[in-house]
Amino acid sequence: MREIVIEPNDKQRAFFESTAKYTAYGGARGGGKSWAMRMKLILLALTHEGIQILLLRRTLAELRENHLLPMQELLKGVAKYIAGEKEFRFPNGARIRLGYCDSENDVLQFQGQAYEVIGLEEATHFTELQFLALTESNRASGRMKERFAPRMYFTCNPGGVGHEWVKRRFIDRKYRGSERESDYAFIKSLVFDNRFIMENNPEYVETLNNLPDARKRAMLYGDWDAFEGKFFPEFDIIRHVKREISIPEGAIRFRAVDYGLDMTACLWCAVDGKGRIYVYRELYQSNLLLSEAAEKIIAMTPKSECIRYTVASPDLWNRRQESGKSGFDIMTRAGLTHMIKADNTRIVGWRIVREYLRGDGETPSLIISDKCANLIRCLPLLRFDTSVREDAAGTPHEITHAPEALRYALMSRTPRKKKPLNDFTSSVYTFDETVSERGFFEFIEY
Ligand SMILES: Nc1ncnc2c1ncn2[C@@H]1O[C@H](COP(=O)(O)OP(=O)(O)OP(=O)(O)O)[C@@H](O)[C@H]1O
Ligand SMILES: [Mg+2]
Repeated sequence: MREIVIEPNDKQRAFFESTAKYTAYGGARGGGKSWAMRMKLILLALTHEGIQILLLRRTLAELRENHLLPMQELLKGVAKYIAGEKEFRFPNGARIRLGYCDSENDVLQFQGQAYEVIGLEEATHFTELQFLALTESNRASGRMKERFAPRMYFTCNPGGVGHEWVKRRFIDRKYRGSERESDYAFIKSLVFDNRFIMENNPEYVETLNNLPDARKRAMLYGDWDAFEGKFFPEFDIIRHVKREISIPEGAIRFRAVDYGLDMTACLWCAVDGKGRIYVYRELYQSNLLLSEAAEKIIAMTPKSECIRYTVASPDLWNRRQESGKSGFDIMTRAGLTHMIKADNTRIVGWRIVREYLRGDGETPSLIISDKCANLIRCLPLLRFDTSVREDAAGTPHEITHAPEALRYALMSRTPRKKKPLNDFTSSVYTFDETVSERGFFEFIEY
């Protein structure tokens, strides 16, 4: 028999005692979040026979460092670690399984499984879809003798791809549909609440104090509004999204497609005489074969709508070795004519999207219909790439499709320039002949 003595601080104790369906803890750096999560799950396993617990972090490396190694140390002689399954088995039948969800679909591996308790460490690193998929597995496993209400525990900091869904539920407390406010509890903890750091490493507070202002407000004081890192801070739902959009007579209509079997995103756009672009319809669907995607796009376009062209991902022009056919061939044969290759220059393209969002003074140059739910959802979720300056992160992949289609759309209305990217002050442009309606484009200068 081994005795483990733990001394939670007041905030951690409140976290331990919460039995809400969803309890989140933290909101800033160093508040003892990971410790609290680990201990809470271990306490549950020790005190509830047969309980099935899943603890998740976004990546395997984080999981190892943050939880696997400390738990192996702590649970020596208490629970048996089964490396193949990444799980701790307790003598009372309880089980803590450790997992990670590197990509959007990794979450599917937990489908069909049942856990009374799921712990999501650094919840803001997970997308809302991943969270929702996990709620499906948060149910009675049938291995417990007592009645136990399934629940999820979260730790979190502001920022990250999940910032919005965590903030809405736990901080802003705005609920939709069948969500119930009483199901959500938030226990805010700051580094000052963590006795261990304040006594052993007080200089850490100084480190947080020296961060750039917005980050400091978020990480030291847990200010969720201070968050920085959005790729498009220019995007503003009130300014850019409209319920009723009236497309002027004579506007040129076109479509932009980012095709993938995992997701096909297609945007229907119109451009008025001043160069303002209206995105008025979207398709966002997974598992469409090329021909099916083309048919769907055609079916969603009313016959009365005259579409000038469809700009699409350049890789559709690559020929497949086996068939000798390209995606372009297949889609054209399925009836999607007037396809043109998108300019896939990413950084220039993102700058152009930014310019359209910014617009001219009061008026943005891009208006999005509120029917384009996925474009509206994904634009604010995009984050900066951590290694390529000015590029958007490619993960989670699911959120990149609609913004990429938007980039293709706006690039197709923007004159190409001859000079290389590093001389972006020049205003020497050429037109892409396949799209040019001379005199129609507005020049965008940087
Ligand atoms: N009640 C406690 N008793 C002993 N040590 C603690 C306690 N709470 C936290 N600690 C220790 O304080 C340090 C920081 O805690 P922890 O890693 O849990 O913070 P965190 O909020 O997860 O930090 P980060 O924001 O970096 O993820 C760790 O060394 C942890 O073991
Ligand atoms: Mg932590």
